[in-house]
Amino acid sequence: MTEDLHIHTGSKVEQYEFILQQIIALIDGEEDLTANLANIAAALKQQFNWWWVGFYLVKKNELVLGPFQGPVACTRIKKGRGVCGSSWASSATIIVADVEKFPGHIACSSYSKSEIVVPLIKDGIVLGVLDVDSEHYDYFDETDKYHLQKLVSLIPL
Ligand code: SME
Repeated sequence: MTEDLHIHTGSKVEQYEFILQQIIALIDGEEDLTANLANIAAALKQQFNWWWVGFYLVKKNELVLGPFQGPVACTRIKKGRGVCGSSWASSATIIVADVEKFPGHIACSSYSKSEIVVPLIKDGIVLGVLDVDSEHYDYFDETDKYHLQKLVSLIPL
């Protein structure tokens, strides 16, 4: 199998549907979580060119930075802190239109203006989060939420 990714230029829904099929093929037969998360972050970055996209994984009751694409980021986040820690604590997806207005937002980069965080849940337990940052305000909506939740549900945890 070649690992070339095909980039789609249609509507946001079409882009998600197209990249999701490729991600399914990329992770098919691979059980290593780091390898799969690394390829998913790379595929999403290539398709959408978001400012930052990556994973934090729960380790010893903290979120620890995992595979990502984009500028360097903070390595550890406590439960309930920032958008990522709040998503972990609530087991819910959080969309933030303006990060400066989110109480306790953790600014890894001053260029980041809006954000979506989707929890990775197995058997009712949050094992990590997918975090996406944009340099534009109000960049993420219910379409992103729907497709990113679908995407994380496909990851073998
Ligand atoms: N802004 C996040 C921290 C992670 S970085 O954006 C990569 C937060 O508030 O949880």
